[in-house]
Amino acid sequence: MQRIPSTLWLTGLSGAGKTTLALALAESLTAQGVPCRVLDGDVVRKQLCPDLGFSREDRSENVRRVAQWCAQINNTGTWAIAALISPYRKDRDSARQIVGASRFFEVHMATPLSVCEARDPKGLYKRARAGAITNFTGISDAYEPPQAPALSFDTGCESTESCVAATLALLRGTDEMLPATIRGNC
Ligand code: ADX
Repeated sequence: MQRIPSTLWLTGLSGAGKTTLALALAESLTAQGVPCRVLDGDVVRKQLCPDLGFSREDRSENVRRVAQWCAQINNTGTWAIAALISPYRKDRDSARQIVGASRFFEVHMATPLSVCEARDPKGLYKRARAGAITNFTGISDAYEPPQAPALSFDTGCESTESCVAATLALLRGTDEMLPATIRGNC
């Protein structure tokens, strides 16, 4: 990898494919001998942030801690792949500042809500619709999409392999920033 160890920040709704892509990217980077760490929301919330809930303030703090961690990981020469809903633009902008803009790549998992909700891998959308979970992103809480992401993927119509290939192309500096519809995957 020609770039300095950097952070890939995967943002998007629950069920958008963040974890799947993060793990596939890690596998691919590792196979190329590039050290990397995955920081996944569900795991982080158990290990680093068990004290936090889903209020606006707690989500901000969750994002801040993960960004600090990513910066430290990058400083030790390792790539970081964060997979967090990170729904608020302001928090992601802060994360960019903490990590350093030159080594922060925002990747929008832009899978539509309808697709995420149909997947509902943890049954959370159903519970959120029933009112059993409050402040659920996309249902009863906002998701502010990135305005200028480095990459944007819709995993409803784009394969994991294609997303990995496009991301690695970006990191190699050979990407063309084409939307999935033009890349021919949707
Ligand atoms: S973030 O908003 O603070 O970035 P994070 O990515 O760490 O969220 O955690 C999201 C995960 O927490 C979801 O995948 C889901 O499993 C779970 N979760 C529980 N309650 C909520 C909620 N109210 N909104 C979104 N996700 C929730």
